[in-house]
Amino acid sequence: MRLFYNQASPYARKVRVFVHEIGIAGRVEMVDCGLLSPIAPNAEVVASNPVGKIPTLIDDDGNAVFDSRVICELLDDQHEGPSRFPANGPARWRALTRQALGDGLLDAALLVRYELLLRPEGKRSTEWVDNQWDKVLRSLDRLEHDATGGGGGVFDIGSITLACALSYLDFRFADEAWRERRPRIAEWFESVAERPSMTATTPQ
Ligand code: BEZ
Repeated sequence: MRLFYNQASPYARKVRVFVHEIGIAGRVEMVDCGLLSPIAPNAEVVASNPVGKIPTLIDDDGNAVFDSRVICELLDDQHEGPSRFPANGPARWRALTRQALGDGLLDAALLVRYELLLRPEGKRSTEWVDNQWDKVLRSLDRLEHDATGGGGGVFDIGSITLACALSYLDFRFADEAWRERRPRIAEWFESVAERPSMTATTPQ
């Protein structure tokens, strides 16, 4: 299998962490696409994924698989050993909802980053940035309130996504100090950030 990724993408990191956690790093060739943005797609990725996004996985049969949610489910399905997706029932919906919250937080943070990075200064919308950032803050506050980071002690798909999302805030929005007034998720994050899967995939 081949995985198109880059160092910075938090969605690609989800998959990279997942690969380490389920112990299949030796089966996945990592293809670093370097710097990418919505206005500078990578031709090799576009040839496999029309929307040009990473992560994109080429499976053993040559099929392109995307996005991070689908890739993680596929890999989970194909490996032997404990699943990182709880079986049907409340635990499954909790894990998938935590995954959706982490992805949603990231979607909003990415929109802020692109607005500030790609749009010329005079054309930026403060209202847009503020509203996207409010989504990030509300997500963090919900996590702190529910203390849902833990996934019942299992580093499942919800926890993996949330850990990558919080780490992305450290990477691109360090000045925003998300830990302030959020001691519970800060403590949870410290406990997972040292996992080998996380340290092996820290963005440089
Ligand atoms: C970033 O540079 O922050 C980034 C790159 C690719 C995907 C998402 C984010």
